[in-house]
Amino acid sequence: MKSIVAVAFLFCTWILSAGELSEVVTSPNGNIKVVVSLSKKGKIQYEVAFKNKKLIGKSKLGVLLENRDLTEGFLLENIKRNSVDEVWDQVWGEESKVRNHYNELALVFKNNKGQLGVIFRIFDDGVGFRYQILSENGKTEDLLVKEEISEFDLEEDMVGFWQPSDWDSNEHVYETTKISKIDGFKSVREGSIHTQFIPDFRAVQTPIVLVGKKVHIALHEAALVDYPAMHLKVDNENFKFTSFLIPNAGLWQKAKITTPFNTPWRTIIISEDAAGLLRSRMILNLNEPCKIKETSWIKPMKYMGIWWEMHLGKSSWEYLDKNTMKPNGKHGATNANTRRYIDFASKNGFGGVLVEGWNTGWEDWFGLWKEEIFDFQTPYPDYDLPALAKYSIEKKCPLIVHHETSAAVTAYEKYLTPAFDLMKKNGLNAIKSGYVGRIIPKGEWHDGQWMINHYNRVIEKAAEYKIMVDAHEPVRPTGLHRTWPNFMACEAARGNEFNGWSSGNPPEHETILPFTRLLGGPMDYTPGIFNIQFKEYKDKNNTNQVHTTLCKQLALYITMYSPLQMAADFPEHYEKHMDAFQFIKDVAVDWDESKILNASIGNYVTIVRKEKGKENWFLGSITDEFPREFDLTFDFLKEGVNYQMVVYADGKNAHWKENPTSYEISSRSVKKNDKVKIKLASGGGCAISLISK
Ligand code: NOJ
Ligand code: CA
Repeated sequence: MKSIVAVAFLFCTWILSAGELSEVVTSPNGNIKVVVSLSKKGKIQYEVAFKNKKLIGKSKLGVLLENRDLTEGFLLENIKRNSVDEVWDQVWGEESKVRNHYNELALVFKNNKGQLGVIFRIFDDGVGFRYQILSENGKTEDLLVKEEISEFDLEEDMVGFWQPSDWDSNEHVYETTKISKIDGFKSVREGSIHTQFIPDFRAVQTPIVLVGKKVHIALHEAALVDYPAMHLKVDNENFKFTSFLIPNAGLWQKAKITTPFNTPWRTIIISEDAAGLLRSRMILNLNEPCKIKETSWIKPMKYMGIWWEMHLGKSSWEYLDKNTMKPNGKHGATNANTRRYIDFASKNGFGGVLVEGWNTGWEDWFGLWKEEIFDFQTPYPDYDLPALAKYSIEKKCPLIVHHETSAAVTAYEKYLTPAFDLMKKNGLNAIKSGYVGRIIPKGEWHDGQWMINHYNRVIEKAAEYKIMVDAHEPVRPTGLHRTWPNFMACEAARGNEFNGWSSGNPPEHETILPFTRLLGGPMDYTPGIFNIQFKEYKDKNNTNQVHTTLCKQLALYITMYSPLQMAADFPEHYEKHMDAFQFIKDVAVDWDESKILNASIGNYVTIVRKEKGKENWFLGSITDEFPREFDLTFDFLKEGVNYQMVVYADGKNAHWKENPTSYEISSRSVKKNDKVKIKLASGGGCAISLISK
């Protein structure tokens, strides 16, 4: 359903000389005001005020092309204004309907080199702007982008939650500092990240979230298509960020474009409080509507997998011993083990089973810049793909096919068609891909234009084949799942896996991710680890462990939104805690409504969601290293309905490090407006299911 409530339209053409222009556009509720002007030198600049207070001071806009400077000497050529208020249906999401409500100001500027369009959309939850690179008489031209100059000149020294400008990885621990103190040097020593490149310490990735006096903002982008990812250079003294595009191989240019060309949207989510950032749907709204006509095959699901056992070293991805080249006796993806996982997952109502290490090549996969490691088609001898696929489908728990590319992306492109054909022949329709390593073609970066086009090409081709995609190690998402809802989730941040084999994720990590990385789209974080300290899989001196309590792992199914949620631990670990596992069995993965009950970035967050098409609600509340208590009012429940509430709470002496698996489960009947107190341990959480009776 799409209902356009109001569309106002105004068109004017006039030429103003530099210095005279001052166009104002506000959000529908009037809280956000943007003023666009031209400097004396004819540079385009914009300012943003929130609730009558200046938030972003005069900031420049422009694009520098090879042989064409579109950054100054501009005159305004024309202006269009427009307003939209519509509601659209999501194939899946945090709510079933999304309101898209904004005022638009579209300007075209001209200098003696060419034309540049700038479009602003002002929503109640923020500002989006994009460039249109035009050419005279609508001609098609191939052009090279040398740099984009989009500034965000903030008025105060806000506190940022940021990751360094790594061109190859977004799996760093978040740093929390004022803008004046941003310095990525420390992150370079992060030994657990396989591939990283941080040439500039005074630069960050997006999304970056910034907290000021009575204002929270998040800078990111929407609809990243055919263009490199934008990172931001930091001016510590002036609290200013300036766009910086990740280059193509050879480093001398950033993008090749064909006119007329729309850049991705640059997004500034604005809210008084942290919860408002989570309610924002601006990034989704700035993406194109769904391009897949028939979407009934796209199914949110919970899945299990032969995965964590390799991360803990219980089994291996590879089949052969690398030295003797004989079977190593530890291979995880065997027929028997796969059937074991399918049986357990199927019995407990899961929708899929991921199997990693099923295909030949893993003996070599850490090989640096090695081209032909995987063909994505040849199973190891102890893995009978057709028989296992058939069995998994009979058990209503189809295999999810793993495509680790080892970043040899040219090989993946070459084998993609036969790999998808093989899946379809076996009735399978979901992949998990991965990009660990240095990119081939050599010289390209994970965040560069060539790779952005690759990630998108895989999603579009998968849509043709009716295949769902979960990508690991791609660029941070920018809301493209609105357009391609078969793009279910991605990793694109430091996942739970780091707790297995590195110093891990500090307890605050999961309280930062929803306000940063998840603003662009769902994350395959892989929650649900119950054996928190996994002592039986490591030697005595190894202190690695998951940095949460067991209950926090449950709460992550709600706070870490994804339509694809893994129950990442082993069946035998769940069998020891079937009472707590009940929450993972019950929790939904697709929603009609989501409500943020409280939120403070890096400290805590509590979210409750209503199951799509049902009257059941599920609540998740998590904290950092500090224990907390919350008084909740269940005003979101439906009048006149009785709900059976089951509370999965940290035990009295629970603590993420000292006593992580202590929990208490209690149950009672509740109704609308009932009050419930919850207690979270250090590094803890609370999960609640509310099933209508
Ligand atoms: C890194 C991914 O994040 C992880 O999930 C996967 O198991 C390994 N790569 C191997 O592909
Ligand atoms: Ca990863």
